[in-house]
Amino acid sequence: MLGRVPVAHSRGMGTPTESFQIPLEAAEVYESRFVPAIFAEWAPRLVDLAGVGRGQSVLDVACGTGIVARTAALRVGRGGEVTGVDLNEAMLTVARRVRPELEWRQGNAQDLPFDDESFDVVVSQMALMFFPDPAAALAEMARVVVPGGTVAVLVPGALEHQAAFAPFVDMAARHAGPEAVDLLTTYFRCGDLDALAGQLAAAGPTVTAHRTVDGTYRAPSVDAFVTTEVESTPLVERLSAETYQHIRDEARAVLAPFTAPDGSVAAPFESNLVVAVA
Ligand SMILES: C[S@@+](CC[C@H](N)C(=O)[O-])C[C@H]1O[C@@H](n2cnc3c(N)ncnc32)[C@H](O)[C@@H]1O
Repeated sequence: MLGRVPVAHSRGMGTPTESFQIPLEAAEVYESRFVPAIFAEWAPRLVDLAGVGRGQSVLDVACGTGIVARTAALRVGRGGEVTGVDLNEAMLTVARRVRPELEWRQGNAQDLPFDDESFDVVVSQMALMFFPDPAAALAEMARVVVPGGTVAVLVPGALEHQAAFAPFVDMAARHAGPEAVDLLTTYFRCGDLDALAGQLAAAGPTVTAHRTVDGTYRAPSVDAFVTTEVESTPLVERLSAETYQHIRDEARAVLAPFTAPDGSVAAPFESNLVVAVA
């Protein structure tokens, strides 16, 4: 099931400089596997901290298969409107299948296909680190929100604050070489909370909250954790079978503190949230 192409493009979407349209199968894997394991827990927190309420119009930037948009739709009710925008048509195909009544648009976060001041609230979850120019995307979010509206962004925290991922990346780099660090850490590259708050403020809105939020990354086993981490990045293309096996073997010790008796992994995962008012 976890073939290279689907996994390589389903969780992390590659490095920031890659351009990509993922296969539909990968988007289905994203929705069935990664949304429940990783992304679903953050959506209600983001939507709540953004203050999404009844009757509002909400834009979910880089919506993927739409977990945040779906959550926002519950809050805005019938009088509200929710739109999701994403670069990947396959993600949007799944989003439309799951919630056909919401608005789904293909578009680039750095050049949003919406007029100025179109939405009451603009949110983006776990995506900014994949944009080649995160500051440009934040400026676009600020452009499309109404005066007095809210922009809220959630990204993974810095690698050094990730109690399970930091030692895992160290160990993988020992086996695979220093380039493994870059390939495994795209996810964490917007992890400086103050820098993120500064970037959003530089786009115009006034930052009203910026904080770190604790969550949990769940995997059914250490092997599944390793498969996801390695095969959702281009690292998998560069590893020999022997090196990959060494990483798998040593991961058992590295992840032991986070492994339950049934073998499942619950790794702490720290995220950063910034909320600003236009
Ligand atoms: C890790 S997923 C997060 C998706 C969703 N926000 C969630 O929480 O499940 C990152 C998403 O960013 C999208 N993406 C990456 N670069 C983008 C860009 N420049 N413009 C719009 N979407 C982009 C990908 O297609 C992918 O759906």
